[in-house]
Amino acid sequence: MNLEQAKAKLEKYGQMQVLRYYDELDDAQKEALLAQIDATDMSIQENCAHQEELGKRGVISPLTCMEIPEIEAGREEFDRIGLEAIKAGKVAALLLAGGMGTRLGSDDPKGMYNVGKTRDLYIFECLFNNLREVTDRAGAFVHIYIMTSEKNNDATVRFLKENNYFGYPESHVHFFMQDMAAATDYNGKIYLEEKGRMATSPNGNGGWFISLVNAGLLDNVHANGIEWFNVFAVDNVLQRIADPVFVGATIAKNCTVGSKVVRKAAPDEKVGVICLEDGKPSIVEYYDLTEDLMNAKNEKGDPAYNFGVILNYLFSTAQLEKILNGALPLHIVEKKIPCLDENGNLFKPETPNGYKYENLVLDMIHQCDSCLPFEVVREREFAPIKNKTGVDSVESAQALLEKNGVIL
Ligand code: UTP
Repeated sequence: MNLEQAKAKLEKYGQMQVLRYYDELDDAQKEALLAQIDATDMSIQENCAHQEELGKRGVISPLTCMEIPEIEAGREEFDRIGLEAIKAGKVAALLLAGGMGTRLGSDDPKGMYNVGKTRDLYIFECLFNNLREVTDRAGAFVHIYIMTSEKNNDATVRFLKENNYFGYPESHVHFFMQDMAAATDYNGKIYLEEKGRMATSPNGNGGWFISLVNAGLLDNVHANGIEWFNVFAVDNVLQRIADPVFVGATIAKNCTVGSKVVRKAAPDEKVGVICLEDGKPSIVEYYDLTEDLMNAKNEKGDPAYNFGVILNYLFSTAQLEKILNGALPLHIVEKKIPCLDENGNLFKPETPNGYKYENLVLDMIHQCDSCLPFEVVREREFAPIKNKTGVDSVESAQALLEKNGVIL
């Protein structure tokens, strides 16, 4: 793209501020900026003007969950089916580690955070330890695909290599990078993070399968005979990965996706709730859950929307390939975005200063044919690290790890 073409594109989308320092750049920087302008989808920023429309929902109704008593009754059978699939190499783990972890406030990838007290214990290490429990039992390694982003890929790969993947075989670890999206101020104007570079952030965790395909890994997936992907977040240190009972239950119930869920602590708890939307499985974010839905009861008299998702899903590969080209809704998320200030100096805000644009994995559930919500015990499987202190923090996760017998 040459300068004239770049100007035409920026003018069309009202983003001419991107060229503010163009004349100060050297030739290489100019070329890099023009290439970035060329590659950036600027149409998404236009959504700022009509955000309400993005949140429009279909008709919500309850989706029956497999609750703990039913799981216990079927445990042996589910475990057998799941373990068989794992031994046969049909199950892969998919670690979402492309996020910026801005709330935690560390410059390193979140997985490098050390949660140990008397020894080193990194978040990545907790996850590999959890996975090892299953692979030791199965006597077979599970392929793990790790999604990083441009911002944290090098640091992530280096750290895991240096630590020998915490004892996991390198042959079973695969990395790929997700795409980036431009970040803007509250008026949808793209920020600069350098004089010759627009501010970008990872485009959400919803593009993981497309990114995996774009990275050329689908042949590898097929060659490895992978029929299921257990997708999970980097920041839940109690995460059960490739849990045979969950895998077995999803297969036994003939569902194309399974979702681990926890019973809500209160009707207004801030978790996405699993349900049906226009008759298809879906997840309604807590801010979209109306008072009526919050207080609705099912035929047993229990709250009808009582199970929240914990970002641990099992997708069938066949289903993923079927929905590959389906567009996901866009989420506009308020975040802290490092950017140039009025004087052209880099400024790292302490509070949110604009928007990032993301697709979310939870919206993939609505594209799937059938979903099994699978209840787990919160204290055993859900210890997310989002913040430095308080709710969902390093401290709360440490307490839960200790409660589950992990020595810190
Ligand atoms: P979060 O929604 O907590 O986002 O990610 P985050 O970027 O890690 O943290 P904050 O909001 O800036 O504090 C949930 C999971 O999805 C992954 C994260 O790495 C985490 O495992 N994720 C998020 C991606 O892989 N890519 C993204 O673009 C966003």
